Amino acid sequence: MVIQFVAGLYIIAGVMFILSLAGLSRPTTARMGTLTGMVGMALALAATIIHSLYMSGHDPDRRSVGVTLLLIVVVLAIGAAIGTPVARRVEMTQMPELIAAFHSFVGMAAVLVGFNSFLSPEGEGGAVHLIEVALGVLIGAFTFTGSVVAYLKLSAKMKSSPLVLPARNVLNMVGFAAFFVLMIWLVVAEDDSLGDPSGLGLTLLLIMAALGFALGFHMVAAIGGGDMPVVVSMLNSYSGWAAAAAGFMLGNSLLIITGSLVGSSGAILSYIMCRAMNRSFISVILGGFGSDGGVVGEAKDYGEHREINADAAAELLAGASSVVITPGYGMATAQAQYAVADLTAKLRAKGIDVRFGIHPVAGRLPGHMNVLLAEAKVPYDIVLEMDEINDDLADTDVVLVIGANDTVNPAALEEPNSPIAGMPVLEVWHAKDVIVFKRSMATGYAGVQNPLFFRDNTQMLFGDAKERVEDIIRSLPG
Ligand code: TAP
Repeated sequence: MVIQFVAGLYIIAGVMFILSLAGLSRPTTARMGTLTGMVGMALALAATIIHSLYMSGHDPDRRSVGVTLLLIVVVLAIGAAIGTPVARRVEMTQMPELIAAFHSFVGMAAVLVGFNSFLSPEGEGGAVHLIEVALGVLIGAFTFTGSVVAYLKLSAKMKSSPLVLPARNVLNMVGFAAFFVLMIWLVVAEDDSLGDPSGLGLTLLLIMAALGFALGFHMVAAIGGGDMPVVVSMLNSYSGWAAAAAGFMLGNSLLIITGSLVGSSGAILSYIMCRAMNRSFISVILGGFGSDGGVVGEAKDYGEHREINADAAAELLAGASSVVITPGYGMATAQAQYAVADLTAKLRAKGIDVRFGIHPVAGRLPGHMNVLLAEAKVPYDIVLEMDEINDDLADTDVVLVIGANDTVNPAALEEPNSPIAGMPVLEVWHAKDVIVFKRSMATGYAGVQNPLFFRDNTQMLFGDAKERVEDIIRSLPG
């Protein structure tokens, strides 16, 4: 009865996770999606605890119910004591590194579950189970060191430029080939030891784990700063597969469902991001792209740039009938979203048509700009995707580029040798006037110079984006 009840709770939790993902796909339903996921996770936790306590009560070989409960409470308390302050403290801009750090835990959990499942006296033998264990340990170990390197690179504790060893792709291939040989060896050796884990089997599993750790380190260290977002989303996918592998090892259907959901949604997100950056998935994985923030590619002389002040910008806006705002990472660092929302409301009150154009990789997280604008209560219906707004830019009077750089760089379309060549961008330069809000002429994330800043219809408004937008609001006539 209890077992059926737990299985029922697992199914309900699995359905809630799927509904949660569906809810997260639209800003209007995202809050509901998050809530559904949280309730699903609470049910899953409750079901797992009930299951452990029930098993303790029914199996004399296990720990007593009291000890099991105590262990669960202590472990939950330690997790909550570490996780809660970290989640409270983290800035939106640090989210990618926090996610990378969390993925490393999932990877390590899969490695530990793999060893536990191999050594456990209750563990089933058999080739299929041993292959599950070997793959779980490899994916988990890879995810662990890969995520740690991604965390170190994103938090600038490690150089973000790629580590390029000679013959690095050959090294990786040899590593994976060695893993497959060891896995077959493990299956054969354990078959001979007739279900009792052998010393040789454990040694082979340890070598496979070491290979996984080394491959994870090497493959992610070889990927440069520009591709890090894709790597984080790829590691998200791997952490899902590692969880699914742990689910197979533990015979836990919910872990298999959840792991597969995370694994496949992470893979789809990585694909979408690659397309948005015009990078092929394979070339990202094989690495060797990205910079430390200086100018990458050829440094060119594009001529002189023009500057504008807040009063003149306010005058230009007041005379416009259509305005498009394209925010980028600088809006997040300046926390300018509230001022931008205020400016939007003031311009709309004057009868000016104001819309937003959002690049799929603007900022540092998928959906970063959408979250900030939603936080500042900008109406969803005026926030458009890049593909929805690009054709309208030629008929726009003024474009305000607020802290965006790479995502509005014409070099992506006009300079075949540019490191970002082929990346789809917001074609803001087709508008009548463009005002760029930033603090200097520095490059953006990809380290590529931006010829937009030197165009005849572009004017630079230097300074902190929030302060400059507030200056404009103060200068707006009437
Ligand atoms: P970026 O190209 O990173 O440029 C942001 C600009 O904001 C900088 O040039 C900076 O110029 C300016 N800025 C910074 N702080 C500012 C402040 N307080 N006030 C005003 N301006 C400020 O931004 P983007 O156009 O959003 O492009 C995103 C880039 O990040 C892409 O290359 C993308 O591939 C990459 N990336 C994306 C993601 C995802 S998934 N969204 C994740 C990681 C990386 P100054 O220093 O001169 O002010």
